[in-house]
Amino acid sequence: MEESRNRWTRNRLTPKSSLCFLFVLLLAVPVVSSLSHRWDGIIVTQADYQVLQAIRSELVDPLGVLQSWNRSGAGACSGGWAGIKCANGQVISIQLPWRALGGRISEKIGQLGALRRLSLHDNSLTGVVPQSLGFLPYLRGVHLFNNRLSGSVPPSLGKCPLLQALDLSNNLLSGPIPPALANSTKLIRLNLSSNALTGPIPIGLTRSPSIAFLALERNNLSGPIPDSWGGTGNSTHLLTTLTLDHNRISGSVPPSLGQLGLLQKLSLSHNQIDGAIPDEIGGLSKLQELDLSFNAIDGSLPASFSNMSSLVVLNVKGNQLRGLVPDALNRLQNLSMLNLGNNKFRGQIPSTIGNMSSISELDLSENNFIGEIPSSLENLANLNSFNVSYNNLSGPVPSHLSEKFNASSFVGNIQLCGYSKPANSTGSQKRKLTTKDIILIAAGILLAILLVLCCILLCCLFRKKAAAKKKNGKSAASTAISEKAVSSGMEVESGGDTGGKLVHFDGPFVFTADDLLCATAEIMGKSSYGTAYKATLEDGHHVAVKRLREKTTKGQKEFENEVAVLGRIRHPNLLALRAYYLGPKGEKLLVFDYMPKGSLASFLHARGPETSIDWPTRMRIAIGVARGLKHLHTQENMVHGNLTSSNVVLDEQANAHIADYGLSRLMTSGASTMVATAGTVGYAAPELSKTKKPTNKTDVYSLGVIVLELLTGKSPSEGTNGEDLPQWVASIVKEEWTNEVFDLELMRDTMTIGDELLNTLKLAIHCVDPSPTSRPEVQEVLQQLEEIMPETAAKPGYEGTEILAPPAE
Ligand SMILES: *[C@@H]1O[C@H](CO)[C@@H](O)[C@H](O)[C@H]1NC(C)=O
Ligand SMILES: *[C@@H]1O[C@H](CO)[C@@H](O)[C@H](O)[C@H]1NC(C)=O
Ligand SMILES: *[C@@H]1O[C@H](CO)[C@@H](O)[C@H](O)[C@H]1NC(C)=O
Ligand SMILES: *[C@@H]1O[C@H](CO)[C@@H](O)[C@H](O)[C@H]1NC(C)=O
Ligand SMILES: *[C@@H]1O[C@H](CO)[C@@H](O)[C@H](O)[C@H]1NC(C)=O
Ligand SMILES: *[C@@H]1O[C@H](CO)[C@@H](O)[C@H](O)[C@H]1NC(C)=O
Ligand SMILES: *[C@@H]1O[C@H](CO)[C@@H](O)[C@H](O)[C@H]1NC(C)=O
Ligand SMILES: *[C@@H]1O[C@H](CO)[C@@H](O)[C@H](O)[C@H]1NC(C)=O
Ligand SMILES: *[C@@H]1O[C@H](CO)[C@@H](O)[C@H](O)[C@H]1NC(C)=O
Ligand SMILES: *[C@@H]1O[C@H](CO)[C@@H](O)[C@H](O)[C@H]1NC(C)=O
Ligand SMILES: *[C@@H]1O[C@H](CO)[C@@H](O)[C@H](O)[C@H]1NC(C)=O
Ligand SMILES: *[C@@H]1O[C@H](CO)[C@@H](O)[C@H](O)[C@H]1NC(C)=O
Repeated sequence: MEESRNRWTRNRLTPKSSLCFLFVLLLAVPVVSSLSHRWDGIIVTQADYQVLQAIRSELVDPLGVLQSWNRSGAGACSGGWAGIKCANGQVISIQLPWRALGGRISEKIGQLGALRRLSLHDNSLTGVVPQSLGFLPYLRGVHLFNNRLSGSVPPSLGKCPLLQALDLSNNLLSGPIPPALANSTKLIRLNLSSNALTGPIPIGLTRSPSIAFLALERNNLSGPIPDSWGGTGNSTHLLTTLTLDHNRISGSVPPSLGQLGLLQKLSLSHNQIDGAIPDEIGGLSKLQELDLSFNAIDGSLPASFSNMSSLVVLNVKGNQLRGLVPDALNRLQNLSMLNLGNNKFRGQIPSTIGNMSSISELDLSENNFIGEIPSSLENLANLNSFNVSYNNLSGPVPSHLSEKFNASSFVGNIQLCGYSKPANSTGSQKRKLTTKDIILIAAGILLAILLVLCCILLCCLFRKKAAAKKKNGKSAASTAISEKAVSSGMEVESGGDTGGKLVHFDGPFVFTADDLLCATAEIMGKSSYGTAYKATLEDGHHVAVKRLREKTTKGQKEFENEVAVLGRIRHPNLLALRAYYLGPKGEKLLVFDYMPKGSLASFLHARGPETSIDWPTRMRIAIGVARGLKHLHTQENMVHGNLTSSNVVLDEQANAHIADYGLSRLMTSGASTMVATAGTVGYAAPELSKTKKPTNKTDVYSLGVIVLELLTGKSPSEGTNGEDLPQWVASIVKEEWTNEVFDLELMRDTMTIGDELLNTLKLAIHCVDPSPTSRPEVQEVLQQLEEIMPETAAKPGYEGTEILAPPAE
C-alpha cells in the first residue's frame, strides 16, 4: 500500500495525470456528490479490495474491461478501476453495463458494506442473483436486466431498507415473486418482466406506499389480481405504471384498481381475465393507456369510462364484450386509439365518435354493428387506420373513407357498398380512380402555371416601379448596378436611384442587389432579431437572408461600423456573414451561408422515427459548437448571449455552425438588453434574470444545455414536468438512474461508448452549474470534449480550426 501511495503521488506531478485528476475531481463531483458528500477516499480499503478481486475471479471478461482491476488497490478509487466508485475508500458503486461480461456475480458482493448501486445490465451474466445483496443496508439501485440470470428472486432483497430500484427484467428467473419485497418501503421501481416467474401477485405489492412503476409482464404468473390496491389509509398511492400483460392471470378486473388516482398506464392484455369491467375503473382520471385486449372479459363497457378523460389508448380487442358502445365516449377528447375489435358489440356505430378529433386508429371489426357507417367519421382528420370489417353494416361507405382505406377495412359486411371491392372488381375501380387523378393533376398543373405567370408579372412590375418611382416604399428594389467599389476585401454596390446599398464581404457569392431582391424566398423562422429566409439566387445557389427589425436596429453609421466587424469573423464553426444590404427606407438585410440541414433543434427534434443520429455525429456537433464559441470568446472577445439549438445550424456533413452571434451589437441598446434579458427559455442561465447581462459564463451554461440536449434527445422546451432540462437531468441522476437520461437511441451501442456518455454528461452538468463561478471556461469544455472522444477531434473537415494543443502525453 505504502509504495502504491507513493507512486500515485509521483504520478500526480506529471501534467497529464494532474489534469486528469482535476477533471475527475471537478466533474465527478456533481454526479458523485449525490452518492457521497465526502469524496476523500482515494485508496480502497483492504477488505473491499479483496472482495472486488473475488468478484472479478468469477466473472468472464472477453473484452478485457476488467484488466484495470489488476493493478494495486491504489487505483481502484481514483477512477483507475473500470466501473468502480468509492467514498471513504469503500466501494459505493459498481457500474459495468454493456461490457459483454459473462460468468456469475459472486456472493461475496454482500461484503461490500457501503455499496449503493449495482449496475451490470445488458451483459451475459449467468448464475443466480446473489442472495447476499440483502445484507447491504445502503443498497439503492440494482440493475441487472438483460442478462441470463436464473434461479429465484432472493427474498432477502426485502431487507434492504433504502432500495429504490430493482430491475431484473429479461432474465431467466423462475419461482414466485417473494412477498418480502414489499418490505422495502423506499422501493419506487420494481421490474421483473420477461422472466419465467410463477405463482400469484403478492398482496403486499398492491399496498406499497412507495412503488410508482410495477412491471411484471411476460412471466407465467397465475391466480387473480389482488383486490387490495391503494389500501393504506389515506396516504396517496403513487403507482403510475402497472403492467401485468402476457401472463396466465385469471379472475376479474378488481374494483380497487379504481383507487389508483395517479395511474397512467394499465396493461392486463393477453391473460385469462373474465367477468365484467367494474364501474369503479372510471376513477382512474389520470389514466392514459388502458389495454385489456385478448382476455375473456364480458359484460358491457361501463358508462364511467367517460370519466377517464386523459385516455389516449383504449384497447379491449379480443374479448366477449357486449351491448351498445356508450354514447358518452366522445368526452374522451384525447383518445387517439380506440380498438373494440373482435367482441360482441351491437347496435349502430355512435355518430359521436366523429367528435373525438384526436382519433387516429379506429378498429370496430368483428362485432355485430348494424346500420350505416356514420358520415361524421369523415370529420376525423387524423384517422390513419380504420377497420369495420366483419360486421352487419349496410349502405354506402362515406366517400372520404372509401378513398382513404382499401377493401380490407370494409370486407365482411354483405350489405355495405361503395368501396373498392377486392379481387376481380378492382380493375374497373382502378380505371375510375385514374380518371379522377388525371382531372386533379390537370387542375394542379393549370394552377401552377397561373402561379408562375403571376410571379413573373409581379416581379416585372416591381422592377419597373422601382426604376420609375424614386421613393417607392415597400418594394425596396434597387436599380441596376451603377457603381462598384472594392475596398479592403469588401465589395460595395450602391443602387444610385433608390439609395439601396449592397456590401459584400469575402465569400463565394457574386450577386447584385437586384438578384437578391428578386430571389425567390421562403420563410425559415423568426427570432427576436428578425425574420430569416431561404433565398434562391438566379444561378440556383441558396443563401440565408435575415431581415432585421428596422425599429430596433442602430442608425446607419453605427450599424455599418458594427456589421463590418461581424463580416470579418471567419471560423469553420461560425456561420459566415457574406453581405449586407441597406434599403432606401432603412431596411436591413444580412446575407449568410445557407445550411441545408437546418437548425440543430429541428435536426434533433423534428426527424422521423426511423432516422437515428449516432453518437459520433452528436459528439462532433458538440465539439463544433464548443470550437465556435471558443473562437468568439477568445479571438473576437464577443459574448453570444443567445446560444440555443435553434441558433446552431448544420451543413451537409452535419458540421455545426453557430448563427446569430454579435447581432445584439447591431441593435439599439434598449432592444439588445431586452433580448438578453429575455434570453431563450431553457437556455438562459439562472443569474441572467438578476444581472440581465450575458457573459462568457452564461454562454457556457447555454452550451451545457445544448450538450444535454444532444445526450438526452430532449428539447429544453418540451414538457419535463415543468422542470428545465438541467433540473430534470439532475433529478434523474440524483435518483441514481443516470442511464435513463440518455436518448434511447444512444443506449443501443453503449457497450463501446458508455464511459464517453457518462463523462460527457458530467461535463454538461458542470457547465450548467447554477453558480457562474463554478462553470468552466469554454476552452476547458472544448479540451475535455476532445479528450473524451479524440478520434472526432482529429477528424478531417476541421482543417483551418486552431485546435488546442493536445494534452501532454
Ligand atoms: C491479471 O492478474 C492475474 C493474477 O493476478 C493474472 O493471472 C492475469 O493474467 C492478469 N491479467 C492481465 C490481463 O493482466
Ligand atoms: C417483512 O416484514 C414482515 C412484517 O413486517 C416480516 O414478518 C417478514 O419477516 C419480513 N420479511 C423479510 C424478508 O424481512
Ligand atoms: C421493464 O423492463 C422491460 C424490459 O427490460 C422494459 O421494456 C420496460 O420498459 C420496463 N418497465 C419499467 C416500468 O421499467
Ligand atoms: C408457463 O407455464 C406453463 C405450464 O406450467 C409451461 O408450459 C410454459 O412453458 C411456461 N411458460 C414460460 C414462458 O415459462
Ligand atoms: C390521514 O391524514 C391526516 C391528515 O392528512 C393525518 O392526520 C392522519 O394521521 C392520516 N391517517 C392515516 C391513517 O394515515
Ligand atoms: C364520474 O364523474 C361523475 C361526475 O363527474 C361522478 O358523478 C361519477 O360518480 C363518476 N363515476 C365514477 C365511476 O367515478
Ligand atoms: C389532453 O392532451 C393535452 C395535450 O397533451 C393535455 O394538455 C390535456 O391535459 C389532456 N387532457 C386531459 C383531460 O388529460
Ligand atoms: C357531437 O356530435 C353530435 C352529432 O354528431 C353533435 O350533435 C354534437 O353537437 C357534437 N358535440 C360536440 C361537443 O361537438
Ligand atoms: C347479421 O347478418 C346476418 C346475415 O344477414 C344475420 O343472419 C344476422 O342475424 C345479423 N346479425 C345481427 C346482429 O343483426
Ligand atoms: C390495405 O391496406 C392495408 C393497410 O392499410 C395494407 O396492409 C394492405 O396490404 C392493403 N391491402 C390491399 C389489398 O391493398
Ligand atoms: C381488419 O380486420 C380484419 C379482421 O380482424 C383483418 O383481417 C383485416 O386485415 C383488417 N384490415 C385492416 C386494414 O386492418
Ligand atoms: C369474382 O370472381 C369469381 C371467380 O373468379 C366469381 O366467382 C365472383 O362472383 C366474382 N365476384 C365479383 C364480385 O365479381
